Amino acid sequence: MSKGKVLLVLYEGGKHAEEQEKLLGCIENELGIRNFIEEQGYVLVTTIDKDPEPTSTVDRELKDAEIVITTPFFPAYISRNRITEAPNLKLCVTAGVGSDHLDLEAANERKITVTEVTGSNVVSVAEHVMATILVLIRNYNGGHQQAINGEWDIAGVAKNEYDLEDKIISTVGAGRIGYRVLERLVAFNPKKLLYYDYQELPAEAINRLNEASKLFNGRGDIVQRVEKLEDMVAQSDVVTINCPLHKDSRGLFNKSLFPT
Ligand SMILES: NC(=O)c1ccc[n+]([C@@H]2O[C@H](COP(=O)([O-])OP(=O)(O)OC[C@H]3O[C@@H](n4cnc5c(N)ncnc54)[C@H](O)[C@@H]3O)[C@@H](O)[C@H]2O)c1
Repeated sequence: MSKGKVLLVLYEGGKHAEEQEKLLGCIENELGIRNFIEEQGYVLVTTIDKDPEPTSTVDRELKDAEIVITTPFFPAYISRNRITEAPNLKLCVTAGVGSDHLDLEAANERKITVTEVTGSNVVSVAEHVMATILVLIRNYNGGHQQAINGEWDIAGVAKNEYDLEDKIISTVGAGRIGYRVLERLVAFNPKKLLYYDYQELPAEAINRLNEASKLFNGRGDIVQRVEKLEDMVAQSDVVTINCPLHKDSRGLFNKSLFPT
C-alpha cells in the first residue's frame, strides 16, 4: 500500500522537452524525481491543470495529497480554501525560491511545513537582473524596435540612453540575489552602491565589494546601507528589487515614494 500521494504541478514542455532533456522543470521530465518518489513508497501525480480554482485537476488531486510540489514561475496558488479542502496535506515544497503563491498563514495554522530550495537559481536571477538593468538604461528596446521598423533615428534612441558608470545604483534586499547583483555591478564602475535590507551585510561582504571597486575602478568605500527607502529612491539612478513578496513588501513601491 502506498504511503500517500505527492502532487507535482509543472508547465508543459512539448517539443522543447524533447529537444532539451535537461529541461527538468516541465511535466515531461518531472524534475527527475519520479523514481525517487516511487522508491520511497509514494504515488506521484503530475499535472499542468491548476486553474481555475476549484474545478482544476489540482483541486481534485490535492484533496487526498500529503505533499504538493509547485514552482514560483508556473504557480499553482495554494490558497486557504485549497488547504482547507486538503486534510492530509503536510508539506508544500517550492521547487525554487519564492513562496508567495502559498497562503503562508493558512499553512502555519494547520502546521503544514513550507519549504523552498534555498539558493537555487540565484546566479540565473542575478544575471537576469543585470540584463534587465542594461536593457532599460541603454534603451535597448527603443533601438531594437527602430531596427525592426527600418528606422534610424539616432536622437530618438540616444535621448533615453545612459551609462551605468558613475551612477548610484541600489538594491532593496541584499540577500543571495541582491548581493550577487551588487558584485556584478562593481564591474560597471558605479559611483555608489546602496542597499536597503532589514539585515546589515557582514563587514567582510562590504569590504569585498569596496576592495574590488578600488582595484578595478580606483574608488573604494562605495557601498552604503540606507535606513529609509525614501532616502534611497531620492538619490538613486537605478533601483532593483530583490526581496521576497510578503505582506510587508507588497506595495512597497508606489507613486508617493517617487519625488515629483
Ligand atoms: N522565480 C525564481 O526562479 C526565483 C529564484 C530565486 C529567487 N526568486 C525571488 O527572489 C527573492 C529573493 O531571493 P534570495 O535568494 O535573494 O533570498 P534571500 O532570502 O537570500 O534574500 C532576501 C533578502 O531580502 C530581505 N528582505 C525581505 N523583505 C524585505 C523588505 N521588505 N525590505 C527590504 N529587504 C527585505 C531579507 O532580509 C533578505 O536579506 C525570493 O524570495 C524570490 O521571491 C525567484
